[in-house]
Amino acid sequence: MNFHILTLFPEMVMDGLSTSIIGRAMSKELLTIEAVNIRDFAENKHNRVDDYTYGGGAGMLMQAGPVYGAYQSVLEKAKSKPRVIYLSPQGQTFSQTMAEEFAKEEELVFLCGHYEGIDERVLEEIVTDYVSIGDYVLTGGELPAMVMIDAISRLIPGVLHNDVSAEFESFQDNLLEYPQYTRPEEWHGKKVPEILMSGHHANIEKWRREQSIIRTAERRPDLLEKAELTQKEKELAKKHLSI
Ligand code: ADE
Repeated sequence: MNFHILTLFPEMVMDGLSTSIIGRAMSKELLTIEAVNIRDFAENKHNRVDDYTYGGGAGMLMQAGPVYGAYQSVLEKAKSKPRVIYLSPQGQTFSQTMAEEFAKEEELVFLCGHYEGIDERVLEEIVTDYVSIGDYVLTGGELPAMVMIDAISRLIPGVLHNDVSAEFESFQDNLLEYPQYTRPEEWHGKKVPEILMSGHHANIEKWRREQSIIRTAERRPDLLEKAELTQKEKELAKKHLSI
């Protein structure tokens, strides 16, 4: 997977993504991340990329030309015509399903807006997907792009040490993950649940599934509708709904 990020703050995204698991995946050449500085495509000697909005109103808008120039520079390098994701509170809300969909692509371009947004004409020409990371307004698209790249990258084979863990974590099957424990056996007077020490794998699996259902009912009841539960499991969930 090759990620290309069109941004006014290349260091912000590269610094944020070069550490930890994503950084290691880059070193292992499982993925590449390139930040393209939109300012390098400014069309005036002052390197300005923003201007006032026609029709008046507060704030500045990013101009079409520099954004288009940055996009063209990616097209020259990309192996295939990439999807272009514009990060915006007006987009569809990002989800695990969307991450799985994007993880199938070979190239992805993220367009990060700043100021009051970007001239509509260039968005019409290059953007294929409008994505929001939630119903709140941030100062720019960089953090949302980093969030999406993190969620997509961990689905790429080899990025996580343990490939099964990408499958079984929260939101798979629309159930939250069960509680987990490590040493010591007792901490602040709290003991690790007995069953986990029993070595009886079938019972442990059963306990974990029940805990997932209980936890989902208590914390994210909205997810239960989409979860596939047996009749008995539905009854268990119902007992733990707070409303
Ligand atoms: N840009 C500003 N706020 C945003 C959000 N919530 N999601 C995606 N991009 C944004």
